[in-house]
Amino acid sequence: MDKNNINPILLLPEEVSSKIAAGEVIERPSSIVKELLENSIDASSTSISLEIIAGGITSIYINDNGNGIPKDQISLAFQRFATSKVRNLNDLNSITTLGFRGEALPSIAAIANISMSSQTQNEDFGHQIISIPMEPLQITPYGTSPGTSIKVSQIFENFPARKKFLRSPRSEAAKIHSICTQYAIAFPNIRLKLIADNKTILSTSGSGNLLETMYEVYGKELQGKTISINSGSIYSNEEIKIEGILGLPPLHKGSSKLIQTFVNNRSVENRMLTYAIRETYTDFLPHKRFPVAIINISISPDQVDVNVHPTKSIVKFLDEGKIFSTIQKTIRTTLTEQMPIPDLSGKSLSINSPKQQNLSDISQIDNQNTLPLQNIAQNSQLTIDFQDKKPQKEIFDFLHPIGQIKKTYIIAEGPDAMYIIDQHAAHERILFEDILNKINQTNISKQPLIEPLIVSPSSTYIDIIEKNMETIQKIGFEISHFGSSSYLLQAIPSTMSKHNPKSGFLKIIESIEKSRENSPITNQFASSLACHSAIKAGDKIEMTQITKLIHDLSVCNNFHSCPHGRPTIFQLTTLQLEKEFARR
Ligand SMILES: Nc1ncnc2c1ncn2[C@@H]1O[C@H](COP(=O)(O)OP(=O)(O)OP(=O)(O)O)[C@@H](O)[C@H]1O
Ligand SMILES: [Mg+2]
Repeated sequence: MDKNNINPILLLPEEVSSKIAAGEVIERPSSIVKELLENSIDASSTSISLEIIAGGITSIYINDNGNGIPKDQISLAFQRFATSKVRNLNDLNSITTLGFRGEALPSIAAIANISMSSQTQNEDFGHQIISIPMEPLQITPYGTSPGTSIKVSQIFENFPARKKFLRSPRSEAAKIHSICTQYAIAFPNIRLKLIADNKTILSTSGSGNLLETMYEVYGKELQGKTISINSGSIYSNEEIKIEGILGLPPLHKGSSKLIQTFVNNRSVENRMLTYAIRETYTDFLPHKRFPVAIINISISPDQVDVNVHPTKSIVKFLDEGKIFSTIQKTIRTTLTEQMPIPDLSGKSLSINSPKQQNLSDISQIDNQNTLPLQNIAQNSQLTIDFQDKKPQKEIFDFLHPIGQIKKTYIIAEGPDAMYIIDQHAAHERILFEDILNKINQTNISKQPLIEPLIVSPSSTYIDIIEKNMETIQKIGFEISHFGSSSYLLQAIPSTMSKHNPKSGFLKIIESIEKSRENSPITNQFASSLACHSAIKAGDKIEMTQITKLIHDLSVCNNFHSCPHGRPTIFQLTTLQLEKEFARR
């Protein structure tokens, strides 16, 4: 919005206000911060600073350099359903601002004291408005600069029951920090500062660069462990645009805290989005671990409804399926095509997930999350490398196998590095993709058993077999009922060892019982069959097999990890070797 040409605040007509998802807007200090921040952002501010005392329970102060509110409208801003952002029902179906209800300021004014001063870009002088619950508003001229400052205090002072239920200042501060973090990332072009009890706990430069902002917000935690994602490079149609940052699979978390989704820069909670992201990462990450993914979906505002819940953070899409498949394809293509082979030397690429940061520990946040810019520039080398790297598949063309160590790992020499491949994980990946391809082409090969075997599984296993009979046949087993609780095993998949077909079959059923719930059942069977058919750690393999294994891995869709998410390959660069041996 042009700062000199502000839409006036008007009362919404009844037909519009009645369609607004109204309800409890202010639950705790962090809800106040969220609303005030959204207002400052909607006012086209480029710099916003927030100060909280005792987790916002004592006071919240915000200052922005946005449009300001003209004197004649300042008191209207405190009325319910008075807004400058929507006018009619049509606008409500196509919301382009963070606010749209005209509810936030009156809701805050109902439970706290507000002192607001504001001046537009065109006014020489500003005004101050004091709002105390149940008392008339006082407006006085006030010397200030263009923009708006708001101080909220005495929160829930007249609502002892509500005040009693507030969490500790520390926990309120953590929640506020988390909200500010989300907005800082969603709006990298806004300079945002959060000061808690006189200590700066978040500060972004407003550079407009998402990666830089992410480092400013998360500090060392993510440095060198991410790649950028942009659907523009995959899809030519621009109907749905997906941009953001993806954690590289050696990085994973114990919770979904760093799966952050935005729709048109609004931080949203949407289970479908989180599920789509997690599902795509399934075979890149170990079981029960969560990826890091910060993703903004740009979509025409008439394709998404934000007027679903009073918090405005729940959205509904008109075409969920399309969003789901676009996210999955964009993430998968980005990871498989751009993900570098992890470097054994890069400590930042350690397979161990870094210690979880406790967001309620503000002093820790202060140290880790607000790196000065110079540090960020110095430390971002590794990631900048990643951005520039070509898809690494081509490296396989230059790999020269050296041999096997510990009867478990394959060593190969490449142009600038030594490569270490886990023979079991790699073979599992190769077999997994081969099995899935053959299932799709209904071309699975079986080997009939000379003498059919009787299998008598436990009742839990019988349940799994009965539920999945079709898939079991699809992956190459031929079994039929034999009495009430037994089966006749007549053929097994060709990939499987002939040594003990009965126990092989039962091991697959057992692993399905323990399997992850995220991936489709056919994939679970295929990965279990691949696991039980693959070369094991401890198997001696010949040079010809090694060469074939490297080749077969190179043509996999995802050569990076086995179907259970364990990595298949690492590199130790010549540069690192030279450093370690003090040659450099
Ligand atoms: N920081 C600000 N700078 C400029 N104008 C503001 C600011 N804060 C509020 N306003 C004006 O006051 C109006 C009322 O704000 P309020 O937050 O109550 O409602 P809203 O933002 O329109 O909708 P919502 O209730 O969804 O937030 C806004 O429409 C806007 O015109
Ligand atoms: Mg608002």
